[in-house]
Amino acid sequence: MKFFVDTADIAEISELNDTGLLDGVTTNPSLVAKTGKDFFATVKEICKIVKGPVSAEVTATDHATMLAEGRKLAEIATNIAVKVPLTLDGLKTCKLLSDDGIMVNVTLCFSPAQAILAAKAGATFISPFVGRLDDIGHDGMGLIADIVQIYNNYSDFQTEVLVASIRHPMHVVEAAKLGADICTVPPAVLKSLVKHPLTDKGLDAFLADWKKTGQSILGNP
Ligand code: E4P
Repeated sequence: MKFFVDTADIAEISELNDTGLLDGVTTNPSLVAKTGKDFFATVKEICKIVKGPVSAEVTATDHATMLAEGRKLAEIATNIAVKVPLTLDGLKTCKLLSDDGIMVNVTLCFSPAQAILAAKAGATFISPFVGRLDDIGHDGMGLIADIVQIYNNYSDFQTEVLVASIRHPMHVVEAAKLGADICTVPPAVLKSLVKHPLTDKGLDAFLADWKKTGQSILGNP
């Protein structure tokens, strides 16, 4: 399973990239607005830090402008994945950008039917939003199960399932059990994946016992 981080915060991205666990980044207009920084400069910097795909979203809603925006975003770096919304204009844009060899992330997916269309449009990634579905009492993980099953039925569907709108570690675990390709995870949730109280407790005990021996690994000649 690949891990993308879901943020436009350069400091968070750098810190997580240094762990060697990061495979890509997703941004959206809300995440960019949160930084208060220039969109193009931010995305350019992220693309230099992280080798994997970096999603940057178009903001137009009509096909012609979306296509022009997508092409402009793709010029920023070779690892840009242009993010388009799951609308007919977005799918049409996805098809043309994909045909040009540009990575496309189709976002705001809330149904299996939408995911089928994105795969047919040649999307590199489909982004189903699990948290937002859970928020309104729907089954976010059920959507992931449906999409994974459908995509596995058709070898010509090459689209990767990028689980988005992740709220907590169990979303990541459940997505992995279902065989989703990627999770895009907020920095705080990504960092919380490593945490377990028994790990902390066990480590404290090992260190206390080791101290009693008076020995040192690096001090050993
Ligand atoms: C990522 O591509 C999505 O834009 C993001 O995961 C949405 O998350 P949210 O529902 O927490 O805003």
